[in-house]
Amino acid sequence: MKVSIIGCGNLGGSFTEGLLKAGVFKPNEIIVSDIDEKKIEDIGELGVQTTTDNREAVEKSDAIFLAVKPDTVVNVLDELKLSEEKLLISLAAGVSTDFLQEHANARIIRVMPNICAGTAEMASAYTTAENNTEEDEEFVENLLNQMGHTIKVNEDLMDAVTGLSGSGPAYVLLVIDALKEAGEDLGISEDKALELAAQTVKGAGGWILSSGESIEKLIDRVCSPKGTTIEGIKVLETEKLKESLKKAVRSAAERSKELSK
Ligand SMILES: NC(=O)c1ccc[n+]([C@@H]2O[C@H](COP(=O)([O-])OP(=O)(O)OC[C@H]3O[C@@H](n4cnc5c(N)ncnc54)[C@H](OP(=O)(O)O)[C@@H]3O)[C@@H](O)[C@H]2O)c1
Repeated sequence: MKVSIIGCGNLGGSFTEGLLKAGVFKPNEIIVSDIDEKKIEDIGELGVQTTTDNREAVEKSDAIFLAVKPDTVVNVLDELKLSEEKLLISLAAGVSTDFLQEHANARIIRVMPNICAGTAEMASAYTTAENNTEEDEEFVENLLNQMGHTIKVNEDLMDAVTGLSGSGPAYVLLVIDALKEAGEDLGISEDKALELAAQTVKGAGGWILSSGESIEKLIDRVCSPKGTTIEGIKVLETEKLKESLKKAVRSAAERSKELSK
């Protein structure tokens, strides 16, 4: 089986790295297409096949990952003229499965990935269309799980997923940046503060996923009475950190909904 990636920007590039990292495909089984020759040249260094001709990429592949900007999706689909022999896996935010079906005659699966594809730590969700097969779904689910962790959702939750895990890496990066700067303010060097902050976030995420305990219980285990952490938590509660993050997710989900209109 061969796969193509159409659009090699931030996500398409990261996705290509993730596909290789997951080890499901050899470099010569992946063909990447973009209109930008420089991006194609750079990604070619990973040993994947490259082209600036989207049609060539599609002809040489069985499954196509679409990673162009949402407003470019229509033009690309019109250009590709896909048939049912091809599996189209759209990675575009705010582009519904119905819309994809109107513009492409292929078997379709819609995925909301995130930028952590490249390190095979991606949180993603996917939704299926009427015309894809069980094998298509199995293929995509396995692949996404090898690049991190995926869940299946109904189409109507894709905007919420976009706001949460699609956009989420940026929120977490901001949190890490704030932790880093706080460490610096207290005298830790910038690089050491960044290492501590990033590893703390990675460790906390892994802890939640592996412990099976509620977040409240886990927080209790860090906050000993009259200890240090509880003082920090009190500040975050007063400053409404949770509310701010919830607003950010809602706002991004709303934008995704707007895009789909
Ligand atoms: N970035 C993320 O974290 C993220 C997360 C989840 C989903 N997504 C989705 O992934 C898609 C890509 O996002 P992105 O952030 O990677 O955008 P991006 O960096 O702009 O990448 C899009 C790439 O597609 C190229 N392109 C434009 N027209 C093309 C065409 N006709 N044929 C082939 N390539 C073409 C662009 O080249 P030019 O720059 O020269 O136009 C660019 O290299 C979007 O639909 C987005 O919703 C992104």
